[in-house]
Amino acid sequence: MCAIGRAHYKKAMNTPALTPFEAHIRHATLVEQVTRWDRLYHSEDSPEVDDATYDSAKREMLAIEADYPELAKNSPTAKVGAAPSEGFGKVRHAVPMLSLDNAFADDDVREFVGRIRRFLALAPDAPIALVAEPKIDGLSISLRYENGIFVQGATRGDGTEGENVTENLKTLASLPRRIDNAPAVLEVRGEVYMTKADFLALNQRQEAAGDKIFANPRNAAAGSLRQLNKDITASRPLSLFAYAMGEVSEPVADSHAQFLDKLTQWGFPTNPLATRCDDVDAVIAFYHGIGERRAGLPYDIDGVVYKVDRFDWQQRLGFVSRSPRWAIAHKFPAEQATTVLERIEIQVGRTGALTPVAHLVPVNVGGVVVARATLHNEDELARKDVRVGDTVIIQRAGDVIPQVVGPVLNLRPADAQPFVFPVTCPICGAHAVRGEDEAIRRCTGGLTCKAQVKERLRHFVSRNAFDIEGLGDENIEFLIEGGWIAKPADIFRLETRNAQGLQRLQNFKGWGEKKVTKLFAAISNRRTIALERFIYALGIRQVGEATAKRLARHYGSFALWRQAMLDAIPRENEAYHDLISIEDIGPAVATDILAFFDEAHNLDALDDLAAQLTILDAQAPIATNSPVAGKAVVFTGELTAMTRQEAKARAESLGAKVVGSVSKKTDYVIAGPGAGSKLAEAEKLGITVLTEQEWLALINPVV
Ligand code: IVH
Repeated sequence: MCAIGRAHYKKAMNTPALTPFEAHIRHATLVEQVTRWDRLYHSEDSPEVDDATYDSAKREMLAIEADYPELAKNSPTAKVGAAPSEGFGKVRHAVPMLSLDNAFADDDVREFVGRIRRFLALAPDAPIALVAEPKIDGLSISLRYENGIFVQGATRGDGTEGENVTENLKTLASLPRRIDNAPAVLEVRGEVYMTKADFLALNQRQEAAGDKIFANPRNAAAGSLRQLNKDITASRPLSLFAYAMGEVSEPVADSHAQFLDKLTQWGFPTNPLATRCDDVDAVIAFYHGIGERRAGLPYDIDGVVYKVDRFDWQQRLGFVSRSPRWAIAHKFPAEQATTVLERIEIQVGRTGALTPVAHLVPVNVGGVVVARATLHNEDELARKDVRVGDTVIIQRAGDVIPQVVGPVLNLRPADAQPFVFPVTCPICGAHAVRGEDEAIRRCTGGLTCKAQVKERLRHFVSRNAFDIEGLGDENIEFLIEGGWIAKPADIFRLETRNAQGLQRLQNFKGWGEKKVTKLFAAISNRRTIALERFIYALGIRQVGEATAKRLARHYGSFALWRQAMLDAIPRENEAYHDLISIEDIGPAVATDILAFFDEAHNLDALDDLAAQLTILDAQAPIATNSPVAGKAVVFTGELTAMTRQEAKARAESLGAKVVGSVSKKTDYVIAGPGAGSKLAEAEKLGITVLTEQEWLALINPVV
């Protein structure tokens, strides 16, 4: 046994076999080392060695244990394959944490106010007060108080679910741990940030200690808060501004300005610059004033946020997709710099779109080093006529991808040649064609084009789709190149395949046992998925998150949606009319959706994928106890109590589906004065017709 066993070690480690005594000593040393590394990695988020070193130690232990099985009993190798520490626990936000729509020009802000006026049907001269406050460049957090005691703090995460960082937040000196006269449940939202001075000092300390240098105050704040070891967070200078409300058990204010006062009384730090403005001119003046003071502020800001002051109006305005109708972020103008264009690369996206990307001599644009910038598309490139060798102006606005504004013509080299846009795909060689009236040239290679395969998979695992952690660009590329995955369903077969195949992922450079275990856990976590995410993840052209959500809500389940799409392919079918009756889905979007379903290979890939998953039926958005949840309603004719837009938004928030045309599936038709053909159709089909007042009486008990 020993002789054969020792051969294990010799073969595995490529070293002379150890004597039994040496083996025991060596094993004990390795156990001590690996136990320490496990602790540092899992509990303290500060790995001491790289994966390769760790894996090699584990392999050596396993090789010794193959020779001396009794050593395996209390060894850390027994834990191989155990679920890795998940880091932070997850927190589901009671009220989603949304993002903000952006405005760049003053006119965008006027339009924003105009939209509010129209939505609420306010008179042209009715005042709309807004609160303007600096947009802090940090990370948003939610703070939950129960009976006045701080019980839970969470990051924004994907807006629906964030990370539980309660203990870390408790280390912030400015965070109230208990508050007086608070409602039973109070969720306060705000921004954790680092001041410019604290950021510079922290980086100096980090540098002196040979530790990580942070790129900007926001990264430093995020990196400091998301530490598994809260003592590290405690040693970092984090600050806080509270600025919004999440869940509350009872009303605490009538307006945002009042709410900010209340926050201050409760002891939360609020931004001293926040100002209530009477009209749009006042907020725009505020914005320009802050712009001038920006450099002198102690913290980074990237714009000004405007919020409708009256809470009853905020409530009526509600949300569109991921942002409220009652707030907007007015961003500061882009920062610009000039540099030299070294080459133009043509990238191929998931739908085959060819995008020109500028590779630049790296240049600092407003504090961020930029080496690549987008040139948008073929027409834009031709219009700007930027040429390799040109000195070009680069611009960066907030988080937006840097873009090339144009060339500096008097610096153009004499021999610079106009760029010739390719008519074949640079990746797969297939024809690249442009549809009539389309600005974008697309590769026709479909799934035979590696670039499209890669981009589709990237989209599939991205944050708002399947959100699989550990499948970043590099790993996806590695898995595709190595033939591990080619389509989404393969991701869910990866673990079985890895266990059965000859090659093991963990043996490849840059992977290792821990990383692979973690990845498999992340994948298996996503085997159950909401229908709307599933639909969005498919990457069908023109089907973004909002459309995916509408489809999910309309059809309810994967099976029903799939069947309805197949039925809708012949345009004369009822199913087609049902599809285009969905809000915001017109014939153009329908064409893209049906083109997807009309391809046998897409349908195969879809079914193959669905077989790996549990796809959750779509939920009615709020109150399932609402009398109109799941009902299909049509508004027609004039409405008097509110605008058509508000009526639709309200119906949807109560779980109803608002459709544009009357069919057998319609539950209610709300007909006002002047209703015509839709009313006639409803009467013909025997559908319940309500007046606006009857409709309001129906929905009012639950609002
Ligand atoms: S209000 C429903 N106010 O901006 C809107 N957000 O793009 C709730 N932010 O995720 C946000 N300063 O991290 C609000 N004074 C401020 C803000 C602010 C910074 C961030 C926040 C949010 C992001 C939205």
